[in-house]
Amino acid sequence: MDKLLLVDDEADVQYSFRRILDSPEIELTTVASGEEALKVIPRLKPDLVIMDVRLGGITGLEALRRLRQLDAKLLVIMMTAYGTTQTAIEAMKLGAYDYLLKPFDVPKLKQIVAAALKAARDMKEIVSYEPLLESEDHELGIVGRCEAMQNVFKLIGQLAATDATALITGESGTGKELVARAIYHHSQRHHQPYLAINCAAIPENLLESELFGHEKGAFTGATAQRIGKFEQCNHGTIFLDEIGDMSLATQTKMLRVLQSGTFERVGGNQPVQVDVRIIAATNKPLEQAVAAREFREDLFYRLNVVRIQIPPLRDRREDIPLLVSYFLKKFARGPKAPVKSISPEVITWLQQYHWPGNVRELENVIQRALVVSKAETILLSDLPPNLVSPGEGAGTAVGKAPAAPAATAPGQASDLPSLARALFHWARKDSRLKVIPAVERELIINALNETGGNQVQAAKLLGITRATLRKRIEKFGIKQQLSIH
Ligand SMILES: Nc1ncnc2c1ncn2[C@@H]1O[C@H](COP(=O)(O)OP(=O)(O)OP(=O)(O)O)[C@@H](O)[C@H]1O
Ligand SMILES: [Mg+2]
Repeated sequence: MDKLLLVDDEADVQYSFRRILDSPEIELTTVASGEEALKVIPRLKPDLVIMDVRLGGITGLEALRRLRQLDAKLLVIMMTAYGTTQTAIEAMKLGAYDYLLKPFDVPKLKQIVAAALKAARDMKEIVSYEPLLESEDHELGIVGRCEAMQNVFKLIGQLAATDATALITGESGTGKELVARAIYHHSQRHHQPYLAINCAAIPENLLESELFGHEKGAFTGATAQRIGKFEQCNHGTIFLDEIGDMSLATQTKMLRVLQSGTFERVGGNQPVQVDVRIIAATNKPLEQAVAAREFREDLFYRLNVVRIQIPPLRDRREDIPLLVSYFLKKFARGPKAPVKSISPEVITWLQQYHWPGNVRELENVIQRALVVSKAETILLSDLPPNLVSPGEGAGTAVGKAPAAPAATAPGQASDLPSLARALFHWARKDSRLKVIPAVERELIINALNETGGNQVQAAKLLGITRATLRKRIEKFGIKQQLSIH
């Protein structure tokens, strides 16, 4: 249940909020003044405060300033009427999470509230990485006993003790976000805010302004100054998820923030100084993006100072039983509900599957099995019918659908003919595409990456002569980064 505090003296506004945010997941408390808010907050401990700028007694801005002194992590959304954007900007500089313009655009309001509540949860739910299982309700854990995960834990501990930038890599669903939050929760900055930004979810042309803000008139539609996440999250930690999707222009700004802690808002020329810890993550091989000149090499090295590489689940199968019991407990209905058991046969199955979706997929499979299972023990028939065993895709299907086709995930195509078929279909979507040179180029980039730029070895891997390789490198304009490891 999320606790929300509304600070507004108008009965109309209180009424609309009750209606708009009516949900069993939200507990709404209202007070009419900043003084009252300051009084109830230490006891109520709301997850989110929504406060009007214009209040009787102390102003909303003054209340915000005092609230932030009490708790730098408290998320506050300010409400302002049209024409008072300057106040909104002041509010953002004081660390408000966002602001709403009255009258409200209801879908926007819901969206901002949902995003703020997610940010509150990220800060509140402590992620522990010690070999756990006896965790409290509010604690999430990163489960793993295998050596590779023990190394991940060690690095989290080392990183938490410093302010260093970290780069977390791993396939989708391996736990990158969880690791980022664990670093934050155990770092000295845990009393300061944490903001997660998914670079892939924000359109390329908006990301720069989202991160660094903009000045009025910086581009069409920039009708007022805007404060970006870096300013807003000063002294805190920013998690940049999917950093491989950042445009080159934004990368240049990022590099400068990492080097000197300064940047200019889009369209501005005043340097802004911030003190923000950056944790970045990506599921794309950044080395490849560097080789293809899509990612700045200098930024890559700057981010890569400490790298946490999370192995795919198929490379740590010994942890599967532990993860399964963790999820069985996590999804048991209510804290006192009996935890279901699982048949050894199912565990064997789960340990054989290749898990293209990694831990997230395993979590979903267990959650689903708990819903469909009728007995006290989870059986093979409770697993999704399309799960197939590893073995070259010829897999025997689990449960009732023995003839199900191999569920080959992207990147998991099992043989050359199926890969070629997939490529052929992909190429047919665009008649201008020259499929053979396009594929050739990708193969060459991969080979060069694999061999650290060694052309002799790359040519051998590709089955062509070094001279041919050189010609192709030139033809395709592949810029080589010899220093990649
Ligand atoms: N070692 C682990 N122990 C417990 N839960 C885990 C572990 N790893 C991942 N999870 C759970 O799996 C899900 C996916 O994890 P997370 O979102 O951190 O992955 P991700 O690497 O960020 O994925 P993506 O690249 O798709 O964003 C989450 O629900 C997370 O809690
Ligand atoms: Mg993620």
